[in-house]
Amino acid sequence: MSQVDDEIVSNRSANPPFAEVLGRAVTRRAVLAGGLATAAAAFLAGRRPGTGIDLVSDGSGSTMLGFTGVPASTADTVVVPDGYTARVLISWGDPISDGPAFAPDASNTAADQERQWGMHNDALHFFPIGQRRGLLVQNHEYTDDGLLFPDGVADWNAEKTAKSLAAHGVSVIEIEDGPDGWQVVRPSERARRITGSTPIAIAGPAAGHALLRTSADPEGTTVLGTLNNCAHGYTPWNTYLTCEENVNGYFRKTAEPTPDEDRYGISAEGFGYLWHTTDPRFRVDDEPNEVNRFGWVTEFDPMDPASTPVQRTALGRVKHEGAKVVETADGRVVVYMGDDERFEYVYRYVGAQPWREALEAGAHPLDDGTLFVARFADDGTGEWLALTPDNPDLAGFADQADILVRTRQAADAAGATPMDRPEWIDVDPSRGFVYVTLTNNDERAVEDGAPTDAANPRAENVYGHILRWQYAGDHADDTFRWEVFLLAGDPENLADGSTVVGDRFGSPDGIYVDPAGRIWIQTDVSTSTIDIDEYAGFGNNQMLAADPWSGETRRFLVGPRNCEVTGVEVTPDGRSMFVGIQHPGERPDDEPGDPADPTAISSWPDGASGTRPRSSTIVVTRDDGGVIGA
Ligand code: FEO
Ligand code: CA
Ligand code: CA
Ligand code: CA
Repeated sequence: MSQVDDEIVSNRSANPPFAEVLGRAVTRRAVLAGGLATAAAAFLAGRRPGTGIDLVSDGSGSTMLGFTGVPASTADTVVVPDGYTARVLISWGDPISDGPAFAPDASNTAADQERQWGMHNDALHFFPIGQRRGLLVQNHEYTDDGLLFPDGVADWNAEKTAKSLAAHGVSVIEIEDGPDGWQVVRPSERARRITGSTPIAIAGPAAGHALLRTSADPEGTTVLGTLNNCAHGYTPWNTYLTCEENVNGYFRKTAEPTPDEDRYGISAEGFGYLWHTTDPRFRVDDEPNEVNRFGWVTEFDPMDPASTPVQRTALGRVKHEGAKVVETADGRVVVYMGDDERFEYVYRYVGAQPWREALEAGAHPLDDGTLFVARFADDGTGEWLALTPDNPDLAGFADQADILVRTRQAADAAGATPMDRPEWIDVDPSRGFVYVTLTNNDERAVEDGAPTDAANPRAENVYGHILRWQYAGDHADDTFRWEVFLLAGDPENLADGSTVVGDRFGSPDGIYVDPAGRIWIQTDVSTSTIDIDEYAGFGNNQMLAADPWSGETRRFLVGPRNCEVTGVEVTPDGRSMFVGIQHPGERPDDEPGDPADPTAISSWPDGASGTRPRSSTIVVTRDDGGVIGA
């Protein structure tokens, strides 16, 4: 039931993994620097040797971080620095408009949940409407069905499937800043829920493809719902992009999975969801193409609550983490996307024409363009490999639609570099760096035969790292130069190879460059390892700020017990920060929450009066009204 995204490997390709590339890059740089021993010593001493290029200043005189860091914490509360206040804005089950109130015993119906904030909120984006009002749009990644009902997963039925589907998807709420800070506007005609059952149009090159046709949709043009909405994006034309990550977890295949199904992690067990018992579309044996209609990026206009969301198939089908949109110098859109599974790839989409011209011509900028996948080389360069029929390595694919539905297989064939779980990607516009978080590749969970390099200590990467790259020209260049921004871990424990300067952390997931250039990093340490083993002393999941010049990391926020910190953005004035707190109280054993003792681990945010821990979004402000982090 819980998010077992750290226990899967489905990449069987022989493509050299990033750990191997990095190992060669460090050795190469050491040789170039005139002595392996010297460079290796610097590497282990916590100085960042880079990996072949010198893009980083020494950070002296940096003044980007102006707050006092907070210590690691295992308390069941949100901790922020002195002079800051964190306040809950909305929690799972709260009405998004004038809908029913949350029933503390979780007895709200599926119809109620359709009008309430979903469960397990993830990435978010704020769309301003004037100075002190706006729409907050946020994903709901998954559910803990043990906590979603008074009796948990017992006696599963169609109503339970419907409520679980209704707690997934996306929420749009209208919020306003007043004397008591940011509040949800109720009622609001702009509030909206998109769920696992909302009709969504399929657009782009794969729309109507034979692999997307089902008995309920013989045309292959409409799918019901969007699932496992993890990170996100937003466009220059003011729409929101929601990204489907671990969608394989909802489906069951009793017979032996085909190689194509295996490549996407389809199994007999799924992640423990029981939807397939009441809804045949989640039974792959009965409806083999339904699963092909998930794993995409879906776009919608939050300002128009009646609009139909549209799946943009040109962006490919993977375990999409997020979709960071930037513009090239000539006005084309570029979309950066990570496929979050161990040894999966980093992708880029480049629009075919400037987005304004495309819209004026009645075309859509996300329907007509080229998808690429990244290959990293040990000389500090990288290149984008086109996933198109004219790539000779992709001769085995029928057409562009086939490549898009089977994106992972196409990327395998193209020779992409398997990474340590690509999560969020963000861009620092002032310096042109593209940052990607790589959560980890915990070797304890690696299956026999997985493509790791046992000779390289970082192949067993339990703390993760953050990469960045830069172009000579702009984001549409075919090549780039990359370096490791930092190897996460504990700077007090040199044996782990961390290059952290400042507060220790691991398993980076969310990354967000704020308007001043501060880099915010959110952690997703698996619930099974929070504050134990290699993570002993790291405390609960947290959010840090990093200085992109000095590389210093400073802990800004620690979440309550067994949560993950998901989603972050400041308002345009930088004085309010929205932060998601996901799955407080999650069990460490991957079992559904226990409805007989739902607050066994956490009762955040409701405290003593609470009957269930609830994923929530909080607002952080400075008591003096200043800019967050400055
Ligand atoms: Fe849902 Fe990759 O975190
Ligand atoms: Ca994530
Ligand atoms: Ca994650
Ligand atoms: Ca997670």
